[in-house]
Amino acid sequence: MKKIRKAVIPVAGLGTRFLPATKSMPKEMLPVVDRPVVQYAVDEAFEAGIEHIVFVTGRNKAVIEDYFDLHPELIGTLEQTGKKTQLEALESMLPVAGATSFIRQQSPQGLGHAVWCAREVIGNEPFALLLPDMVSFGGRGCLAETVELYERTGGNVIAVERCEPSETNKYGIVGRGAEIGGGFEVKAMVE
Ligand code: UTP
Repeated sequence: MKKIRKAVIPVAGLGTRFLPATKSMPKEMLPVVDRPVVQYAVDEAFEAGIEHIVFVTGRNKAVIEDYFDLHPELIGTLEQTGKKTQLEALESMLPVAGATSFIRQQSPQGLGHAVWCAREVIGNEPFALLLPDMVSFGGRGCLAETVELYERTGGNVIAVERCEPSETNKYGIVGRGAEIGGGFEVKAMVE
């Protein structure tokens, strides 16, 4: 079984549900506590052993690429003013050189199309897909568990969470089948 080394993070959507906040600012850059939401997805990916992240970006999303780049002027100023904590925070979040790729989705034709845009960089390998607009807290990262389940079962694995029956109209819903390797078989799906 091939190891999961690469992850796709699509960030080219229009974010219409968060307007006007997302008119000129990508929804993936909206802050949750002290960092943009996309940072949680990247941390989760590296924690799960991912070596390369492919971001699928679009117009107005250049700030995401800049966010994961080195900022020499800022680092110089922090060094001069002795702001060690901030310097360490910046250093620890920077992906190593060559660990990220940015692919352009020229028009937002949906999530499936965004993933398809990454096909040449992914090649013939299993990969992880993280949607950076959903954050769950507590315990280990969700992707680490998902990758383990893939390694145990060899199947396509989707992470899901429970929701109230009254809320099912807001989400994609799966039908629960037999238990397999700590997860369960998906018997049906409604998106
Ligand atoms: P969503 O459907 O939640 O994103 O897609 P959206 O289209 O931005 O949201 P709304 O419905 O208009 O508010 C989940 C993820 O897939 C990306 C989004 O950026 C988000 O991270 N996506 C979606 C793309 O990259 N391209 C698309 O064409 C659509």
